[in-house]
Amino acid sequence: MSSRSAKAPDDRVVFLQQFLKHPRQVGSIIPSSRYMERRVVALAEVASARTIVELGTGTGGITRAILGAMAPDAKLVGIEINPRFQQLLTRVQDARLIPHFGSAEHLAEILREHQLPAPDAVISGIPFSTMGPQLGTRILAAIADALAPGGCFVAYQVSAQVARLARPVMGAPRRQVEFLNIPPMRLYRWDRARMAAPLQPAADG
Ligand SMILES: C[S@@+](CC[C@H](N)C(=O)[O-])C[C@H]1O[C@@H](n2cnc3c(N)ncnc32)[C@H](O)[C@@H]1O
Repeated sequence: MSSRSAKAPDDRVVFLQQFLKHPRQVGSIIPSSRYMERRVVALAEVASARTIVELGTGTGGITRAILGAMAPDAKLVGIEINPRFQQLLTRVQDARLIPHFGSAEHLAEILREHQLPAPDAVISGIPFSTMGPQLGTRILAAIADALAPGGCFVAYQVSAQVARLARPVMGAPRRQVEFLNIPPMRLYRWDRARMAAPLQPAADG
């Protein structure tokens, strides 16, 4: 049995436990499948990115897939708000990974703290459908502000809420659906070059 398949059941248990404790924050009862991992990596064109941000690393499946596809001299900052998931990320031993315990909302400060340039790709699995719309809009504006001129934002979600919220900030996305994931998952990609200037987010909420 490979080390990956030996770890998978534990990860699913931890994921479910965290969902039961923080349903709105985790937003899903199981981690993304391998089909999703492959699709996210391809849609975000991870192989050609130098600086990558992942929002909501969870049990780290997508994180590992990104690391597996990215260049030897690229950097990945993984931002996770849940301390149990953040702890799980310490299992991933890779000098290119910068784990960060905190909220996606503070993306600009996090990039500054780690002295990282504007990201070429921001990849998000955070649940925009269960967070307040003002927080969601602030996070999306922070992403649009942070991206490199040629950068892209890839979000995956069961619901279409992220696309609705992002429309005034980022415009219309490219869309895909991964039917082999359980449940089927929507994927969206926005390119910074095609976005209007980001709106100023609301100050409260
Ligand atoms: C649906 S899970 C996705 C986990 C993993 N990326 C996957 O695909 O299996 C959402 C993740 O986003 C995290 N999260 C929720 N809100 C967040 C925020 N504001 N900042 C950073 N992470 C957040 C949750 O703790 C959880 O790990």
